[in-house]
Amino acid sequence: MKHFFYVILLLIIFITNLNTLAQKNIAVLGTGYVGLIAGACFADFGNNVICADIIKEKIDTLNNGEIPIYEPGLKELVNKCIKNNNLKFTIDLEYAIKNSEIILIAVGTPMADNGQADLSAIKQVAEIIGKNLNNYKIICTKSTVPIGTGKLIKEIIKNLSNNINFDYLSNPEFLREGSALKDFLEPDRVIIGCESIHAYNIINEIYEPLINKKIPFLFTDVVTAETIKYASNSFLATKVSFINEIAELCEKIGANIELVAKGMGLDSRIGTKFLKPGPGFGGSCFPKDMQALIFLANNLGLNLKVLQASVEANEHQRELIINKLLNLLNYKIKNKKIGILGLAFKANTDDIRCSPSIDIIKKLLNLGAKINAYDPVAMNNTRKVLPNINYCQSAYEAIVNVDAILILTEWPEFMNLDLKIVGELVSNKIILDSRNILDSNTTRKFGFKFDNIGNA
Ligand code: UDX
Repeated sequence: MKHFFYVILLLIIFITNLNTLAQKNIAVLGTGYVGLIAGACFADFGNNVICADIIKEKIDTLNNGEIPIYEPGLKELVNKCIKNNNLKFTIDLEYAIKNSEIILIAVGTPMADNGQADLSAIKQVAEIIGKNLNNYKIICTKSTVPIGTGKLIKEIIKNLSNNINFDYLSNPEFLREGSALKDFLEPDRVIIGCESIHAYNIINEIYEPLINKKIPFLFTDVVTAETIKYASNSFLATKVSFINEIAELCEKIGANIELVAKGMGLDSRIGTKFLKPGPGFGGSCFPKDMQALIFLANNLGLNLKVLQASVEANEHQRELIINKLLNLLNYKIKNKKIGILGLAFKANTDDIRCSPSIDIIKKLLNLGAKINAYDPVAMNNTRKVLPNINYCQSAYEAIVNVDAILILTEWPEFMNLDLKIVGELVSNKIILDSRNILDSNTTRKFGFKFDNIGNA
């Protein structure tokens, strides 16, 4: 009897918890990295999520259980949520907005030619939200938007919404491509710019699984949240530029950059992360966010000297790689065949936006080099911008009869190349490892003329 009582009590507690567990109707506008990850994770938390996008092919792909981007684990999660019936995809933004109480804005903000963020998609969805606001909603921006954009979005919605009440939040996303799910589910922190108690309570509900994990949440006003995102990305990018400069110095003085970085990182004030030298930072965020922050500051009469230097150092890093390759080839590059290993801006992604690899290949083509290229997942994207280079089906195929091998992305499969086989395939035993993934002593033992970044 006593046991029966406890079982009933446990059931009541379980059912009560189920009811208090956030089960909100959420619309996610934009199905890029941020939108898809956020949509799938909030659906997995038990909410009903509709992801909407104006690009029909994207939505068709998603409705067929396929994912338009390469991101480990995402396909499985999306399909699980679709099966559980709490994740849907539509091109009908109006339907998604009208049937949701929380709207997450996750559309792209690409860099325009003048270095400013292109806000046309943001303005467009703000207008659609304003016109379709049928009752109180929370509108939350997850896209990285220039500081002050929250104010603009609020104004657009307010002007179109017939006095229907809404709250506006900024919840910048810090996920990295390649580890996006882990970054969303186990973030170092969640930043929420929120100026209403009601919205604060709702947002706490939808983030309950992360709050239960004791992830730090920092609530600020909207403009402060927007600034945290830009300041964080710019700081990390500057850390990369800093270590790349120290790596160049290491080469001149005979120090080892890997050990220098390790020794620095052991100081908990510095930390070990983002101290890996390489061909310079790329991707859809760092270059764009740095430019946007510099531009904003300039408009306010401020000169952000550290950030400007960091961007310049990053451009220099591409030149450094070219010079190193020229040096290895005795400054004879015309008609030389170069085997490029890696096209993505970093490993575990098919993204080639601002990829050092693409910039470097373009420069090599201008110098008259011939290019063989291989990347495990980024070749389709690269074909669209570099249609006339020779794409190969494996790393080994890409190095057949080449005059030099240039490693530009740190894919694990490049770390495990059989150097004996490599030596037999190439015309000239030259390797430039811009990601420091090969052991320099071993490579030299196999008879290669070898260089990397900072005498690693
Ligand atoms: C970045 C931020 O980390 C993330 O918080 C934000 O949401 C989006 O922008 P991502 O662009 O996916 O994420 O890549 P990240 O892993 O941060 O790397 C950015 C660039 O820096 C890459 O080109 C990478 O190769 C380079 N990098 C990074 C280095 O060269 N050395 C390092 O030690 C770290």
